[in-house]
Amino acid sequence: MAGVHLKGIVKRYGKGDPVLKGIDLDVEESEFMVLVGPSGCGKSTILRVVSGLEEIDSGEIRIGERVVNDAPPRERDIAMVFQNYALYPHLKVYDNIAFGLRVRKTPKEEIDTLVREAAELLNLGSMLDKLPKELSGGERQRVALGRAIVRKPKAFLFDEPLSNLDAKLRVQMRAEISALHQRLKITTLYVTHDQVEAMTMGERITVLESGEIQQTDVPMGLYERPANRFVGTFIGSPPMNILDARLDGGRLAVGECIFSAGVPDELRNRADSRGFLLGIRPEHLEVHDRPEGLRATIDLIEPMGGESNIYLSTGAGRVVATMPGIAVRKRSDEVFLRFDPAAAHFFDSRSGVRLGEGSVPGRSG
Ligand SMILES: Nc1ncnc2c1ncn2[C@@H]1O[C@H](COP(=O)(O)OP(=O)(O)OP(=O)(O)O)[C@@H](O)[C@H]1O
Ligand SMILES: [Mg+2]
Repeated sequence: MAGVHLKGIVKRYGKGDPVLKGIDLDVEESEFMVLVGPSGCGKSTILRVVSGLEEIDSGEIRIGERVVNDAPPRERDIAMVFQNYALYPHLKVYDNIAFGLRVRKTPKEEIDTLVREAAELLNLGSMLDKLPKELSGGERQRVALGRAIVRKPKAFLFDEPLSNLDAKLRVQMRAEISALHQRLKITTLYVTHDQVEAMTMGERITVLESGEIQQTDVPMGLYERPANRFVGTFIGSPPMNILDARLDGGRLAVGECIFSAGVPDELRNRADSRGFLLGIRPEHLEVHDRPEGLRATIDLIEPMGGESNIYLSTGAGRVVATMPGIAVRKRSDEVFLRFDPAAAHFFDSRSGVRLGEGSVPGRSG
């Protein structure tokens, strides 16, 4: 096992703009790192350059102690698992799992031990004589995992391995892959565009957009201290609300509402009167009837069972609030929105960069 380290990776396809614009990423030995971002941001490209399927224009890729920029894929000792499983349809489960070992001329008895160990681990023991077409999607994905595990690689690369599965199976496989990592502790770089998958599986998460890393942190670090507006709205569902805000006599003002609570020094010290953005998560917005806070009208209510999403229009923009239970209110109701400014995030209106979080007397950080 080994860490995977990327330094200043630049990658272009043809003559166009770079698809990776200087990626610095350290996946430590035994770590489960999730790489998340919207479609086309460069996630698969990162996996392809690590595995050696694509060359880079500049930068350094290190696996453990070895710089592998010029090493062919087979020397990098890395196993990849894809969305489409890529199983051999005419080979039985046993032979699919054994395939890579046979190519490497592993002795027959050793292959047998490794395949049976992996099958045991993945609950495939009774399926070794079946063909892929006789398996469910989840079982096929487990065979693909088995094929990766038996090689005992230095690191695993996963490219959206669960996106072909239905919602229930996805949740189950998510837990299985996490449990497998707990047992094997193989260094893993796991790509997804699903922020729920990222939050639930990642020991750390890297958020990528347009070929640039936006932030790397533990899941709750991203949630509680997003580095910019993009990360704030990408992580969390429903997404963080973003409202135009300003300072009014040194106090925080949103729409017609002026708060008495403090704002961070970074904001108070801004010489100009340019506005900024206030980010507030749906669970921190409280919908109530007293004329206090932001005036709002309910546009839509989504009952989710355990909680409800309430979509509202305010003078400062549209927002969504989540409340436990089933909402007693209805569409077109006039209500007020209150939030604790200490729960707010502040971002620069132009760059989107984080300016700080709310603070009230007696609360630090
Ligand atoms: N072989 C290629 N030739 C030219 N451009 C490519 C090639 N492969 C990818 N690209 C471009 O590089 C960018 C990043 O692609 P990549 O496949 O890494 O995205 P991704 O983050 O994995 O997206 P998705 O979530 O849709 O899989 C895209 O704009 C894509 O069109
Ligand atoms: Mg991809």
